[in-house]
Amino acid sequence: MTSSLVSGAVVARVTPAIDDLVVTAREVIQRGLPPELTAHLVGELIVPLLGTPDLLTAEQCEGHPDRYRQHVLHAETDGSFSIVALVWLPGQRTTIHDHVSWCVTGVHQGQESERRYRLMTDGRTSRLIPTEDVTNPTGAIAAFAPPGDIHRVRNACATKAISIHVYGADISRLGTSIRRTYRDPEGEQ
Ligand SMILES: [Fe+2]
Repeated sequence: MTSSLVSGAVVARVTPAIDDLVVTAREVIQRGLPPELTAHLVGELIVPLLGTPDLLTAEQCEGHPDRYRQHVLHAETDGSFSIVALVWLPGQRTTIHDHVSWCVTGVHQGQESERRYRLMTDGRTSRLIPTEDVTNPTGAIAAFAPPGDIHRVRNACATKAISIHVYGADISRLGTSIRRTYRDPEGEQ
């Protein structure tokens, strides 16, 4: 995907709806509010866009046969936020992971299944405990900020799933929003 430098921001070729989201999200993020509140407020901007037909280009809806696919839609040059579309074909999933920054996700198409975990430690060893299974249908929003943000996401449906993610970091530079990955708990596939 081509990109260019416009008004101090690295932008992909995006739809007017994403262009508008960049402007409104920037205004919220520049307030310098706490991460959880920032994620919540940016989530309110995403909700009305989810499921609308002109949010993404056809290319930004394309998946990859081997793994879920990330399309970087926008990365603010000061590193303060990025907007990404993730495309999941049926059965695709992430590792168990946490994140480099606050994040808000919204399901644009299909449905995503999420398992959340807590890392328990006795001072010598640690293990993951599943705490919650959540199903996120089209239109659902999830906002979070580290720590306590360990999860795995999968597309358990028979159709493609697409979600919009806004991160408080420069994903175009980092390549990923994942801070670290965790081994699967025993017995979990
Ligand atoms: Fe995640």
